[in-house]
Amino acid sequence: MNTITIPNLASEQLTKLTEQDFTQFGERVLELIANTHDEKSLSELRALLQGKKSPISALSKQMGSLDADGKKRYGAYLHELRTRIGSAFDEQNDKLAKLALHAKLASEQIDISLPARHITQGGLHPITLTTERMKQFFVQAGFSVATGPEVESDYYNFEALNIPSHHPARAMHDTFYFDAHYLLRTHTSSVQIRTMENSEPPLRIICPGRVYRCDSDQTHSPMFHQMEGLMISKSSSFAELKGVIHEFLNAFFGKELTVRFRPSFFPFTEPSAEVDILSDTGKWLEVLGCGMVHPQVLRNCGIDPEQYTGFAFGLGIERFAMLYYGIDDLRVFFQNDVRFLKQFA
Ligand code: FA5
Ligand code: MG
Repeated sequence: MNTITIPNLASEQLTKLTEQDFTQFGERVLELIANTHDEKSLSELRALLQGKKSPISALSKQMGSLDADGKKRYGAYLHELRTRIGSAFDEQNDKLAKLALHAKLASEQIDISLPARHITQGGLHPITLTTERMKQFFVQAGFSVATGPEVESDYYNFEALNIPSHHPARAMHDTFYFDAHYLLRTHTSSVQIRTMENSEPPLRIICPGRVYRCDSDQTHSPMFHQMEGLMISKSSSFAELKGVIHEFLNAFFGKELTVRFRPSFFPFTEPSAEVDILSDTGKWLEVLGCGMVHPQVLRNCGIDPEQYTGFAFGLGIERFAMLYYGIDDLRVFFQNDVRFLKQFA
């Protein structure tokens, strides 16, 4: 710390010093202050000049023994010296602070001409995109979107849909049961029942959502997505069902399709049909199940089948996504491989 030496003004008696001695001392000290390069050496110098052991304090102590004239004269010299030194310290302090700030700004400068770091943009999952595409058609046609629980009771998933226990149709679904009453819903048809119970016809709804079956291969997965559709009114007919389904398929696949309604069986619709579309290679592809809502199902939900009729359909969203994007293995939807997912962003 003692790299700075200040002139020893206090080696003489105060009364032996002249005004010139004070001036010279002042000039020398100001020079020392102006030559400091950082805040640390400035504060060291400040301790030497303004502290209790500084020559100025030593001389001040002698003031008491002076006569009135001496007090006036040397008092003025010392005061002048203190003031000059004080403002020199303040100025230098400001100057060093500014320099330090500039140095900091210069070192932290951002080069805006450098190329930016690459940001990977995410995208929606193909199943979400497919669901949205389906919703778009039906929402425009006046359908609203309904949802229901994935943990469902035996009643909503089977009983109310005209599938009592021990009915052979239960074997069509490999159900995950929790206990005798609760299960993971095997289809979105349970949402039909909940909606019919809770609202008055006429009704126009679609119900997209996750469903579960103990089933796993290239085209079947234990968790998959279905979308149910239900329309109930005083004049719903099979002709209307055919029209809605055909329009939907054309809109979804973006072209005029050849469609076939093939008689089939579901316990909750009568008559029932499965719908096939003709592929570019001349093959019939099954795309969904549908039918007129069974009168017993309407009755189970408090709707009078003498007044109202309705139709319903249910489809596998993965199946539509596979046909739409040309994917032949359903499992890729659930592997979360970014190389696959990136193609849909
Ligand atoms: C049903 O689930 C009926 N609830 C559909 C229905 C609704 C008919 C309303 C009539 C009226 P199905 O079991 O066929 O039907 O399943 C419908 C579609 O789900 C199938 O065409 C298929 O695309 C899809 N699907 C079925 N099991 C799986 C699975 N394990 N993985 C992926 N998709 C599946
Ligand atoms: Mg089927």
